[in-house]
Amino acid sequence: MKTYHLTYAFLLALAANSAFAQKFEGLARTPQLGWNSWNKFGCNVNEQMIRETADAMVSSGMKDAGYQYVNIDDCWHGARDERGFIHPNKEHFPSGMKALADYVHSKGLKLGIYSDAGWKTCGGKPGSRGYEYQDALTYAQWGIDYLKYDWCDTNGLKAEGAYLTMREALRKAGRPVLFSLCEWGDNKPWEWAKDVGHSWRTTGDITPCFDCIEDHGTWKSWGVLYILDKQDGLRVHAGPDHWNDADMMEVGNAMTVNEDRAHFSLWAMLTSPLIAGNDIRNMSKETTAILTNKSVIAVNQDALGVQAFRYAARDGIEYWFKPLAGNDWAMLVLNRNKDPRKVSFDWKAENVDDDLSKRAAAFGSTSYKLRNLWNGRFVGNTGKALAIEVPGHDVLMLRLSPSS
Ligand code: GLA
Repeated sequence: MKTYHLTYAFLLALAANSAFAQKFEGLARTPQLGWNSWNKFGCNVNEQMIRETADAMVSSGMKDAGYQYVNIDDCWHGARDERGFIHPNKEHFPSGMKALADYVHSKGLKLGIYSDAGWKTCGGKPGSRGYEYQDALTYAQWGIDYLKYDWCDTNGLKAEGAYLTMREALRKAGRPVLFSLCEWGDNKPWEWAKDVGHSWRTTGDITPCFDCIEDHGTWKSWGVLYILDKQDGLRVHAGPDHWNDADMMEVGNAMTVNEDRAHFSLWAMLTSPLIAGNDIRNMSKETTAILTNKSVIAVNQDALGVQAFRYAARDGIEYWFKPLAGNDWAMLVLNRNKDPRKVSFDWKAENVDDDLSKRAAAFGSTSYKLRNLWNGRFVGNTGKALAIEVPGHDVLMLRLSPSS
């Protein structure tokens, strides 16, 4: 009798294990780098522009700087067939998704797609509700590497369950897919999504403005500073393979060069996925230089995987610190004001330490050399107080390395 019970318990445990698979581990040990169609093109997506974007990711130097994913957002969809399988819009994707994935892969890049946990996507296309396993199988057959999964038309659904269902479906389909949750932070995904996906959106949609809110009636979109402020308290939840996603970037879309530089630097400090949202086939020199700044990207991609914290804020000037591997630190001074401001920071009078990573900068006993990550120059060390002017809506971003 006892043996019977033990065997039974063992079989139950085995069944429970196989019923709940894990997410694909290790696909985002550092935040994902890529491009997404939505911010610039909305519903105007087609295979030609996706091919050209993949080409541009290589020719612009973005691939070399670490960008990997070319992601098609909403509205690629055609209809479901009589058996329920989804097909791309024939007019816009005449060669089909498999051919497009093959092309993107031939460039050494990866292809991402978009769906929604509800019955319809935000753009009114067929959602995955009730078709999760079929859709995951279809994506795997096409050779998709990344799924952004949205939260429109989900009345009555529980977020955690809905996202878990898709995680299971992807796992069952067998092809490793980076799973990017886009639930806008409504159900606090940072509390439950660590083992569900690789990143989760923390806010509603971004808008290409540094310091404004756009009111659409039933919903709002948020400028850079508003998104930044909504990250408060969230850093403790992020780490390798599970990141807070501050939304796709607006660099190159409408803001000034200063604002774009600040936006990119902040997203790097936040250890957010860096997903470009502009037309990378036609970028200005300035936009290309921002998106491909390898020193700033290295801060985002640092192996320690610890999100920055706001150390101090005075008169619209903020001081942010991010501990990096090898006892380095990244420091960012943000000027939220429109006009330039003189800032000073007397290292030795400051006590920068971080409970989360258990790291202390110890400026009193350790001297750090300072490198300005936007012009590449060494600008002294922490032996002498920092005194510098930061232009309006701009940042100073430094890498601190122990002198010896
Ligand atoms: C939502 C998402 C956006 C975008 C659109 C597409 O608003 O948050 O990022 O995917 O849907 O319709």
